Amino acid sequence: MTHGTPPSFPHRHLLGIEGLTRPEIEGLLDRADAAVDISRQVEKKRVTLRGRTQINLFFEPSTRTQSSFELAGKRLGADVMNMSVASSSVKKGETLIDTAATLNAMRPDIIVVRHQSAGAVHLLARKVDCSVVNAGDGAHEHPTQALLDALTIRRNKGRIEGLQIAICGDVLHSRVARSNIISLQALGARVRVIGPSTLLPAGIERFGVEVFTNMREGLKGCDIVMMLRLQRERMNGSFVPSVKEYFRYYGLDGDKLALAKPDALVMHPGPMNRGVEIASDIADGAQSLIREQVEMGVAVRMAVLEALACHLPNE
Ligand code: CP
Repeated sequence: MTHGTPPSFPHRHLLGIEGLTRPEIEGLLDRADAAVDISRQVEKKRVTLRGRTQINLFFEPSTRTQSSFELAGKRLGADVMNMSVASSSVKKGETLIDTAATLNAMRPDIIVVRHQSAGAVHLLARKVDCSVVNAGDGAHEHPTQALLDALTIRRNKGRIEGLQIAICGDVLHSRVARSNIISLQALGARVRVIGPSTLLPAGIERFGVEVFTNMREGLKGCDIVMMLRLQRERMNGSFVPSVKEYFRYYGLDGDKLALAKPDALVMHPGPMNRGVEIASDIADGAQSLIREQVEMGVAVRMAVLEALACHLPNE
């Protein structure tokens, strides 16, 4: 799929950004650049995964990740099965391990998993014979989101090295923030996190990021403003006084965005809560990359599936 000979990817699974080297991340981004070209053609089908079976196993809701993994697998020629957990035997009390063993017996080649518990995808990967891709586990990691974000930034800014990137909002509950901090720093960016102290993990400085609780201060001089969703489904108790207050101090509107660099670009992994963490006119405005992030999601997932293909049995 890549234009030149791709460097081989040395891992059987993609469970996180943590543990990947800079050349490995950049290799995936290069593959994804080539996949963007394929996805923009009329004829999008390739044969890399012809005859292979990919199962998408999502224990949490998803629009972008699940549909883009399905498209990516199909564009590479795989047979893709989306397993609906809502109507599966998980609802009758079957454990994650038993579900994994059951699916493993059907001899899939790749399982893509999203789970509400941090570490669940690592556990599942130890119980199956095929490659496993983490599509988001609790507040731990969302590696393909970080890769698509890096690809979007690199294609728009021409580089990641030296950029000042602000990750804003509910960092505490965000797997996207964690994967992006690791990935963007590995690629040479300087990363700030911005949010109310109740939504910043204790000891976040240890990740090498600058920390701001005042959004107006934190946005000054930024090249990229990455907003995060307020993840109320992961909150036990009240982390913000009210949505109205939250938007006033931490919602991205035109006044706050004007404090970043004039050519700053705005990102959001989705799903967005308009009027909570981001104003509608900013989400849909000229500086927004949010739609492009979705397009890059398919390309990055094609790149990841292709990179893992060399580890599949009989390959
Ligand atoms: N960004 C993201 O993971 O979106 P979905 O929950 O829709 O997959």
